[in-house]
Amino acid sequence: MVYDAVRCVLPGEEFRGNADKSIPSDYFSAMLPGSAVKAEPVPDQLPENGGERKRKKKMRDRNPIPQIKDIHEIRAQFPLLAASGLVYLDNSATTQKPECVLKAMEDYYRNYNANPFRGLYSISEQATEAYEDARRSVSDFIHAADPSEIIFTRNATESLNLAAYSLGELLLKPGDEILVSIAEHHSNMLPWRLAAKRHGATVRYLEPDEEGLFSAETLENALCPKVKIAAVTHMSNIFGRVNDLKTFAEICHENGTLLAADGAQSVPHIPVDVQDLGVDFLAFSGHKMLGPMGIGVLYGKRELLTRMPPFLSGGEMIDMVTRDRIVYADIPHKFEAGTVNAADAVGLAEAVRFMENLGFDAMQEREEALTRRALEGMKAIRGVRVIGSGKARDHHGILTFVVEGVHPHDVAAIMDSEGIAVRAGHHCAQPLHAFLGIPSTTRASIMFYNTEEEIDRFLEVLSSVRRRMGYGG
Ligand code: ALA
Repeated sequence: MVYDAVRCVLPGEEFRGNADKSIPSDYFSAMLPGSAVKAEPVPDQLPENGGERKRKKKMRDRNPIPQIKDIHEIRAQFPLLAASGLVYLDNSATTQKPECVLKAMEDYYRNYNANPFRGLYSISEQATEAYEDARRSVSDFIHAADPSEIIFTRNATESLNLAAYSLGELLLKPGDEILVSIAEHHSNMLPWRLAAKRHGATVRYLEPDEEGLFSAETLENALCPKVKIAAVTHMSNIFGRVNDLKTFAEICHENGTLLAADGAQSVPHIPVDVQDLGVDFLAFSGHKMLGPMGIGVLYGKRELLTRMPPFLSGGEMIDMVTRDRIVYADIPHKFEAGTVNAADAVGLAEAVRFMENLGFDAMQEREEALTRRALEGMKAIRGVRVIGSGKARDHHGILTFVVEGVHPHDVAAIMDSEGIAVRAGHHCAQPLHAFLGIPSTTRASIMFYNTEEEIDRFLEVLSSVRRRMGYGG
């Protein structure tokens, strides 16, 4: 596809400046239930490589992953958990990494580190194949229609900045509106606010009920023809509640609105099928799903990504450059300027394999049982109030709470003094805290690798907090 480098717009009909910015209506009709129009299947363009598959199989044979029959056997796979004795309950901030992820990354750097896509020699090709294999693994994991719909970024934040910047360029004009849920992490709020500011659009906020639920009706009532984009979290990092994105996507598409979802908390904890959900964009981070820090994903529908202008520019995102013309590379490479993060992509693919091996049924079963144990225990502690639903199954391991009369930093410091890691503050969701009328909270967030004993220890220390702060029980 050829872009005009001087005007920085797509030639032809796709992008003719503000007056004509729009997504063709057949894009939305193709998304509506019962539509006969389906997206064209896209052939897998990535090369098969027998050698690489053999190498991965060899690695799998060296590092078999146990199922969750014995949680202690699973925990032994996580060096930090095994060595430290720490009760780690800050999994929504980042998760611990299993040995196989660490080994896969070490293997990359020790044995085939080279700049992917650039070298005409074997380890560069091997690095390229491993990177594209990782893209395929992630694509399969979230059931994308095609690996080219997976853009590797640094993290969910960068993914959402990419989406907001590029969609803004493609779509937004003065007077347009963006609907953002008040429960968003700053990462799925500020990029849209900045995009709105750049293009003369307005941001409006969607509010949940007191249990953190955003109803379809609230969304429906908030939409109007001016709303071009809705930005909603799949799973809130405060409530732990899952939004019904499938219904939200249908409602948005009927209105001609694109839906961009933050999947940073959902992808690690519940099975996600982007085609079934029908979302236009989904962002998530590798480090919250057992993978390394520094690699994130933006899923986007092919039709949109193809039309969107790049976010970053530079090496390897072009087909051709002359003094006054740029021909961009096809997706996903158009959005991956510069040397890519191959080692972390390989680590993320290994994390995906680890999770697939355990299976969401087993992971969810454990997380729900642990959440129930923690929530019931917290309800019984005087002065402790959990934010959101009273039902464990609505929390997906995320328990955000206040302790009457005690600052969350003191709660976290007392926990830390007992070897328990929790997060305190506003959790990058200040507007939500303002909406709830609470300056800050403490959050315990659970992963399948936590144990009943750890939850009991957390409850024991929590029940002592007010007494330690001089409240007498
Ligand atoms: N987004 C991460 C959290 O909610 C850092 O803790």
